[in-house]
Amino acid sequence: MHTRLLSPDDQGLAIACDWLSQGDLVAMPTETVYGLAGDARNATAVARIYEAKGRPSFNPLIVHLPDRLAAEKIAHFDESARALAQAFWPGALTMVLPLRENAGIASLVTAGLDTVALRVPAHPAAHALLQRFGGPLAAPSANPSGRISPTTAAHVADPDSGLGGRIPAVLDAGSCPVGVESTIIGWVDGQPALLRPGGIAAEAIEEVLGQSLIRPAINPDAPNAPGQLTSHYAPRASLRLNAETAGPDEVMIGFGKVGGELTLSASGDLTEAAARLFDLLRQADAMGRPIAVAAVPETGLGAAINDRLRRAAAPR
Ligand code: TXA
Ligand code: MG
Repeated sequence: MHTRLLSPDDQGLAIACDWLSQGDLVAMPTETVYGLAGDARNATAVARIYEAKGRPSFNPLIVHLPDRLAAEKIAHFDESARALAQAFWPGALTMVLPLRENAGIASLVTAGLDTVALRVPAHPAAHALLQRFGGPLAAPSANPSGRISPTTAAHVADPDSGLGGRIPAVLDAGSCPVGVESTIIGWVDGQPALLRPGGIAAEAIEEVLGQSLIRPAINPDAPNAPGQLTSHYAPRASLRLNAETAGPDEVMIGFGKVGGELTLSASGDLTEAAARLFDLLRQADAMGRPIAVAAVPETGLGAAINDRLRRAAAPR
């Protein structure tokens, strides 16, 4: 695939929106770092984000919106969240908030959690893209997994250290003025918490809140490690891996040639399987029976799928 550099003018934005509407990815400039954007409502597009980054696990992604009103359609805001939005949006603040039911966000975006990370970027090119696209964009930093975040279009488009050849387009708006990722705030037992330091100083946030932020000892880049804050969705039912057939009473989740009552992908397509994973786990869990899952190959997105399945199967 050839990666095109687009200018963020009328024509470039139109092309970018066409790609996004088809479920393809476009790297977009934000004031913090370049993000790898895909339609947050489209599970296949979101699976492609993980695929392009080569992420070995499904960390939840930040959803980008054009303004606070669009954000309030996706998550519940209390008074303090609204005060922070008024003070710092558009800007380098991300808030983790309770996801609304029927918000229409693909479950792969939140990795099955009932919270969602939201941000309204200030960069004019990001804002123009969001306005024109008219929908929420999921966007992690536009770098291959394990590499540092890109602050120029050239970083993103580099075929060796970036995503060149793996994504159709980059909107090129020069270098990012902030250059570090957004500050992430969440609420833990009702207390505001600094989940990741970033482009907006914690002190400025504390001043608006009129209270100090708790600083949970977590590594936000590996939030699903044991004992860390972001507990991932885990089914209540027991889960058996690498199953070939369903045992008595088990709900079987098939993959490829191994069939089941539910199936990740009958054709063995890993992008499709990733897109369905969290919805299927919830569906299977709702059936109230133990769950068995067919083996998924450890290649490409399979590594992330297996990482998630192993966590879901781990004794609790
Ligand atoms: O500046 C930024 O925030 C950039 C630009 C592109 O907006 N984006 C970015 O995304 O840094 P990413 O995917 O590299 O980092 C997202 C962070 C992860 O550490 C993830 O764990 C956390 O946000 N996160 C997302 N949803 C969450 C949730 N529901 N609960 C807790 N943490 C969450
Ligand atoms: Mg990142």
